[in-house]
Amino acid sequence: MKLDKFSRYPLTFGPSPITPLKRLSQHLGGDVELYAKREDCNSGLAFGGNKTRKLEYLIPEVLEGGYDTLVSIGGIQSNQTRQVAAVAAHLGLECVLVQENWVNYHDASYDKVGNIELSRIMGADVRLDPAGFDIGIRESWERAMESVRAKGGKPYPIPAGCSEHPYGGLGFVGFAEEVRQQERELGFRFDYIVVCSVTGSTQAGMVVGFAADGRARQVIGIDASAKPEQTHAQILRIAQNTAELVELGQPITADDVMLDTRFGYPEYGLPNDGTMAAIRLCGRLEGVLTDPVYEGKSMHGMIEKVRLGEFPAGSKVLYAHLGGAPALSAYAELFHQG
Ligand SMILES: Cc1ncc(COP(=O)(O)O)c(C=O)c1O
Repeated sequence: MKLDKFSRYPLTFGPSPITPLKRLSQHLGGDVELYAKREDCNSGLAFGGNKTRKLEYLIPEVLEGGYDTLVSIGGIQSNQTRQVAAVAAHLGLECVLVQENWVNYHDASYDKVGNIELSRIMGADVRLDPAGFDIGIRESWERAMESVRAKGGKPYPIPAGCSEHPYGGLGFVGFAEEVRQQERELGFRFDYIVVCSVTGSTQAGMVVGFAADGRARQVIGIDASAKPEQTHAQILRIAQNTAELVELGQPITADDVMLDTRFGYPEYGLPNDGTMAAIRLCGRLEGVLTDPVYEGKSMHGMIEKVRLGEFPAGSKVLYAHLGGAPALSAYAELFHQG
């Protein structure tokens, strides 16, 4: 596998830490050992997260190509757009963000606090758009790009979740390489890796990275899009493209993409009772924060899989904590009684 042939611009602190989730493991019976890899604090740029790792492989093209404006898109509480805003500020670039109405959650402060607040503080040109949820390429950000060109700027498009970008999967190939190095230091191997999936390039990169040591199917995606067919197809397509880029040397097939579809309901951006219980349990036992849109759903999935005995006794499970906590204040109403 040849990841090193791609330039990488460092935006993270270095390898993100792996920490044991001891009290949560014990609470769930102690037969399965849970750990977390902390992508949620992988960078000093506005809290970081999975997009910051992905962006490390996009930024070299931005700098070499003389682009002056990063243009990206997401929901109103998008973590991606907040991370793009931070990276733009860090590099002295302009930033235009299209924030669409992806989530059926209505609260007077939803478009003012959390991620969108942070993006505004960092100087991004935030444009609200009424379009609904879709993980594909959107006309609205094409329009945003055009508006940059019209002013004589050179826009660099970064699609939702970086996922449709040809290099969007590379960052999480690197994640797998990093885990292998950390496993050497820890002296054991993880049996499963649990990851939240929506736009797909996080899991796609991991599938490719872990395919290199025969663990593609040990990567357990937890769907949070509630449109699992679309997400599965997107993960597969990105994984296949990424495998070609890094010359994996083995095919990735639909069976290599494990996507558990039981936890994403009722829809993207809205938690269910299990999501809420998982957020509270992990917060109270570990002091680790997860959010109602993404990580609370994958935390719920992991907890439920332990409870149902779906991980054999003795398994070591690595939860990829991808970030997302900055959205919590937008959901303050859900937690006003804790
Ligand atoms: C916190 C968090 N977790 C998980 C995901 C899902 O990652 P991906 O879109 O690469 O599937 C995202 C972004 O969409 C995210 O911001």
